[in-house]
Amino acid sequence: MSEIETLESGILAQIDAAADEAALEQVRITTLGKKGSVSQQMKTLGKMSPEERQVMGPALNGLKNRIADAITTRREVVKRADIEARLATEKVDVTLPVRPNPIETGRIHPISQVMDEITAIFSDMGFHIAEGPDIETDYYNFTALNFPEGHPAREMHDTFFLNPDENGERRVLRTHTSPVQIRTMETQKPPIRIVIPGKTYRQDSDATHSAMFHQLEGLVVDEKTNIANLKWTLMEFCKTFFEVDSIDMRFRPSFFPFTEPSLEVDVQCDRSGGEVKLGEGNDWMEILGSGMVHPNVLRAGGLDPDVYQGFAWGIGIDRIAMLKYGMPDLRPFFEADQRWIDHYGFRPLDMPTLFGGLSQ
Ligand code: DAH
Repeated sequence: MSEIETLESGILAQIDAAADEAALEQVRITTLGKKGSVSQQMKTLGKMSPEERQVMGPALNGLKNRIADAITTRREVVKRADIEARLATEKVDVTLPVRPNPIETGRIHPISQVMDEITAIFSDMGFHIAEGPDIETDYYNFTALNFPEGHPAREMHDTFFLNPDENGERRVLRTHTSPVQIRTMETQKPPIRIVIPGKTYRQDSDATHSAMFHQLEGLVVDEKTNIANLKWTLMEFCKTFFEVDSIDMRFRPSFFPFTEPSLEVDVQCDRSGGEVKLGEGNDWMEILGSGMVHPNVLRAGGLDPDVYQGFAWGIGIDRIAMLKYGMPDLRPFFEADQRWIDHYGFRPLDMPTLFGGLSQ
């Protein structure tokens, strides 16, 4: 065996034995690299006689090319083997459930959702949002709203009273959001256009009443606003909120101390299928109280009733949330049951807007 043949078979054996790309690269460096065995042989060509070189030149070049080819071929083999090995160990079980992103698991409570929907609707109509304290004085909750001392309407509110303070005054958990009407009139000059979402409290609880519940109050005061504006505002609100093209509404005479005249408002519904459907059918469901602001209330707010007039309404947020989203019982709203919120809750990034859709 010639020297070249010996060298070649030795290198080919090393190439065959290289188990991975790193080992193969090592073989390449020690053979074809600058100081590699094949390169060293190539360097001897310079010192040879022309006759010798004529024989050894092609022989060494042939060796170099065969080694390079063998390395390339072997590289493909070890590469594929590497991929096969990884495929065998790094398995992905596509039948496993996807681990949900935290943003996908959090849910917005239906009350928050409905408040966002309502404020989106009224902001679009040019209303501002106002707020007031949950703990109220008897004056704001009753007296300023034209409930005289000892008036039977006070009894109807099933009020939670706090212990009397050092002056003997008993503050209350507000029984409605109406006191914020007075607080707003005291600090803002007309035209006033506000909605007041908030918590309210009464000693009452069953499937459709809870001791803490939510109301949305509305108040408009200027020099000319009238009962037709009241009707239009509430009809427009109901259509948009319930996402129907038309809805029949009934305005019935009623009594509230803080409005004159007072109206209770019913919406058309169908109860025939066991659940309540809005915007169709021959039944009615009461959803809110409203009226023209009583002159005594304007006066209590520091406004002259001979100059200003206004309308107001109060609507139960929990009630209209139950109606819109088909929730039969109010109690789970406040029980923090994960299964209930998973079922009835809303996705946090789906903010209700009039242009993007209220409830999607
Ligand atoms: N405050 C009333 C209640 O809780 C609801 C209400 C009725 C509010 C008529 C109003 C109104 O502003 O005009 O029962």
